[in-house]
Amino acid sequence: MHIFPLARASPHARHADNRRARGKHRDLPCFAFVFCGWALDFGYVMTCDDLTLLFPSENDADLREFAIASIEQRTVLINGKICDWAGPIKDVLSPVMVRGRDGSLSQMRIGSHPFGNVEAAMVALNAAVAAYDNGRGTWPTMPVPERIKAMQKFLAGMRARRAEVTRLIMWEIGKSLLDSEQEFDRTVDYVQQTIEAVRNLDNTSSQFEIVEGVIGLIRRTPLGVVLCLGPYNYPLNETFATLIPALMMGNCVVFKPPRNGVLLFKPLQEAFRNAFPPGVVNFAYGDGAEIVPALVETGKVNVLTLIGSSRVADHLKKVHPKSNRLRAILGLDAKNAAIIMPDADLSLAASECLLGALSFNGQRCTALKMLLVHHDVIDSFISEFLARMSKLTIGMPWAPGITLTPLPSLQKVTQMTALLEDALAKGARILNPGGGTAAGTLFYPAVVYPVIPAMRLFREEQFGPLIPIASFDDVDVALDYVATSEHGQQVSLSARDPYTIARIADSLVNQVCRVNLNCQCQRGPDVFPFTGRKDSAEGTLSVADALRSFSIRSMVAAKYTDPSREILNAIVEGRHSNFIHTGSIL
Ligand code: G3H
Repeated sequence: MHIFPLARASPHARHADNRRARGKHRDLPCFAFVFCGWALDFGYVMTCDDLTLLFPSENDADLREFAIASIEQRTVLINGKICDWAGPIKDVLSPVMVRGRDGSLSQMRIGSHPFGNVEAAMVALNAAVAAYDNGRGTWPTMPVPERIKAMQKFLAGMRARRAEVTRLIMWEIGKSLLDSEQEFDRTVDYVQQTIEAVRNLDNTSSQFEIVEGVIGLIRRTPLGVVLCLGPYNYPLNETFATLIPALMMGNCVVFKPPRNGVLLFKPLQEAFRNAFPPGVVNFAYGDGAEIVPALVETGKVNVLTLIGSSRVADHLKKVHPKSNRLRAILGLDAKNAAIIMPDADLSLAASECLLGALSFNGQRCTALKMLLVHHDVIDSFISEFLARMSKLTIGMPWAPGITLTPLPSLQKVTQMTALLEDALAKGARILNPGGGTAAGTLFYPAVVYPVIPAMRLFREEQFGPLIPIASFDDVDVALDYVATSEHGQQVSLSARDPYTIARIADSLVNQVCRVNLNCQCQRGPDVFPFTGRKDSAEGTLSVADALRSFSIRSMVAAKYTDPSREILNAIVEGRHSNFIHTGSIL
């Protein structure tokens, strides 16, 4: 096993040859934007200078090719109108930094957006309350086929803005262009699947049930006003994973974009306005810590949906004046562990762990955030892991084949460094050459071993490119780690023996909500239930479950008598009701 100190500098600093990774862009200048991991195969230690040189200078050709014109958003969608905004604004700084002539780095300014206060957010909330009108509004009473048509119209409008939205995801959060495009396409699929699921749900509800002399017709109905708060790491996909089903079920929404990932919603304003009745979708901008509790305190929010931290969710639930009336659908903290047993296929385990730990720089709620490896195979596993990791490329998000990209803010880099330094001070070592080296928003991932309970990394969710490893002799130690965790989302288990897998899985399914056998943790396919125990989630998201989460069953019932039958038949045959009908949506 190779153990390297935290790299600060190297006498052999050099530019990486980009050409391999550039693929079809071979004709462009070869400097910068990508550091090929193959250089690290030869023991090369990543330096701060190397990372600095990965950022573009102002005149770089790639910047000209991939840059976007700055977006100065001065409009807000409220109550069906794209209103002019004359209030305070906030600059948007990209994770991508530009290198000055003197080597200094500065974050690129890519635009600005409204940054409102509580008063402005209340206008959005009141618009949603009025549109819902205690369940009597146009949208909550609209027949499901018409709601579906509205959503299809929105989807067409959304598809038309793919190029702008994906570029904005890349520039606002530093996600690779390919992953940004995949996020968009996955979201389009999600909307499409949601439309199909609502059609099926409505069709299966289109029948009377007769039980114990009572006849009833049961359908799912909306809950009211939904306050929707999405995360920065999947600003489009995870936001829409709650916003779209909430709308589809007839609710009216106030949506506050995440701190990083605001401008990407601007191109979608018109699609929202054109597809839905006034007040059904309203945007609120500003400091979440200020405006969100104020919105919840009014008691006008019926559903809180937040993909974020359990600390914030706890606080918000408490400020609602009648918390019994507040439904919460939450995707929260996670610290998913990988357990590597001695009989595991170590090559497979290493590649799945690498994917799990470092896709989008480890900024996924489902990321593997602790690797627990059996003592007998720890050296071999680490060798396999480091060999694979050394092949990852780091650089700018538009570079083809790129894996590691800038973090969304300098503060995030500071957080990673603090967690790392805490572990090093308590006896851990960095196993990969140059691990933990930082320059601006680039942070070269660090594999940290051995991680022990005294270190923050042992329990804290790092949500970034740090890979803590601990070893165990007895599998019960690994199982105890999961059982005593504050989190309970998923686990990855690498093993081959069916008896061992069965015994461990039987225990783990009661600790978490998904046990992944010989593969990384993940949310998809989106039709599978996505949830967690303890501080990891409340409610379940999947294409079908989300529709249930954002609705409640309501029914019309009567005694099963001739007069009742006559009345119900007349309503159905005369097509007088949007609720009491037995028609199917084909
Ligand atoms: O950030 C949490 C996401 O829901 C993870 O989704 O597993 O598809 O990356 P993913």
